[in-house]
Amino acid sequence: MEPLKVALLGCGNVGSEVVRLLGEQASDLTARVGAPLELAGIAVRRPGRKRGVAADASLFTTDAMALATRDDVDIVVEVIGGIEPARSLLLAAMKAGKSVVTANKALLAADGATVHAAAAEYGADLYYEASVAGAIPLLRPLRESLAGDRVHRVLGIVNGTTNYILDKMDTSGAGFSDALDEAQELGYAEADPTADVEGFDAAAKAAILAGLAFHSRVTAADVHREGITEITASDIASAREMGCVVKMLAICEKSEDGRSVGVRAHPAMIPRRHPLAGVGEAYNAVFVEAESAGRLMFYGAGAGGAPTASAVLGDVVAVARNRLSGARGPEASTYADLPVRPMGEAVTRYHVALDVADTPGVLAAVAQAFARHGVSIQAVRQEGSGEDAQLVIVTHRAPDAALAATVTELHGLDIVRAVASVMRVEGEDPPT
Ligand SMILES: NC(=O)c1ccc[n+]([C@@H]2O[C@H](COP(=O)([O-])OP(=O)(O)OC[C@H]3O[C@@H](n4cnc5c(N)ncnc54)[C@H](OP(=O)(O)O)[C@@H]3O)[C@@H](O)[C@H]2O)c1
Repeated sequence: MEPLKVALLGCGNVGSEVVRLLGEQASDLTARVGAPLELAGIAVRRPGRKRGVAADASLFTTDAMALATRDDVDIVVEVIGGIEPARSLLLAAMKAGKSVVTANKALLAADGATVHAAAAEYGADLYYEASVAGAIPLLRPLRESLAGDRVHRVLGIVNGTTNYILDKMDTSGAGFSDALDEAQELGYAEADPTADVEGFDAAAKAAILAGLAFHSRVTAADVHREGITEITASDIASAREMGCVVKMLAICEKSEDGRSVGVRAHPAMIPRRHPLAGVGEAYNAVFVEAESAGRLMFYGAGAGGAPTASAVLGDVVAVARNRLSGARGPEASTYADLPVRPMGEAVTRYHVALDVADTPGVLAAVAQAFARHGVSIQAVRQEGSGEDAQLVIVTHRAPDAALAATVTELHGLDIVRAVASVMRVEGEDPPT
């Protein structure tokens, strides 16, 4: 049997595990594919670096382009990350007739259109299961298993770092920076945690999920993004009192008339009885609501070398089988071409905590501010008294723009000393 030759671009956390699995599982992979998978070469930036991978030194090269387009290569696996040179490498590989597998969420979210267009033009397989939620089989279920259904909503915890931090804040009462320090010490957060804690990573994944779920083109720039750096221990305590927990969520939803989609990544309260509330540590989980399938939940390790390599290898086996049978995997369809609506039109519920003067008429003045903007109040309670008086308000569903206008007005009221926190509430109705 002629082997299928695999070019590996990148040999870091994920790439080194791909090398290990290709070696350790060689006979199983051969049986599953119908031909051996052989490493043709490994492109890296620093060839002299110690990597602890069982690969012949002669396989390493710094010329990723030459490797990706080499005549004898069948499959190109890109695990370098970032926009360039990854994009040029993938485009050149597809032009040269290779099947490609990538874990690159940043590229797919920023410029998936170019990469998908090349796959269509050259008839190439383009698989990227590992780009969202690591090991969890999620993109192929959305692209293939749910192709006969209508997805209404995808609600996901897709960033392990922020889930770890928020989970620690919830279970130990720690503040954001202490929880971040702990996450960094344990290797759950990078030295520069910006991409995670400011929500860029979750926004990129939300764009990819929304595109697949709604058969439309969504880029990271379309996604409303807020990070978790402003979340305080008192927000977490407020959520707890409401029977909720704070999670960093990627939310993709169709509008009620089905004519547009909303895509956002931000922290939100969800009821503790919601299936996503129990997702702790650095785990990921994605909750999908579809018309006929109902509610589905996907759960597992969202990152890490071996879990991510598992998803990469699954894609390698799929594209290898396609090559042998002369078939091509399904394209990500964008026929629906739904526009992304502005964040101001997103409709959800809100939890608003106000430090107020403890005087008669406060409640009425605050209620009028909400009413003037058409935001109806579901529940209100007062905590503390005198200097410490705080009003906690939970609204019914309202457009984001209406809530923003309400908050602006609340800031200007004399009886409101401070708007202590404003947080969206997702999932089912919170207990009142
Ligand atoms: N790590 C995870 O848990 C995880 C989870 C899901 C998805 N992903 C995605 O997987 C991809 C890889 O992540 P990673 O964590 O494995 O990254 P990483 O550890 O930083 O590894 C990147 C690799 O790319 C190589 N590289 C960088 N620039 C290159 C160039 N110009 N030419 C050739 N090689 C180059 C590096 O070479 P040197 O080793 O010589 O520096 C390194 O081997 C990213 O797209 C990431 O978003 C990662």
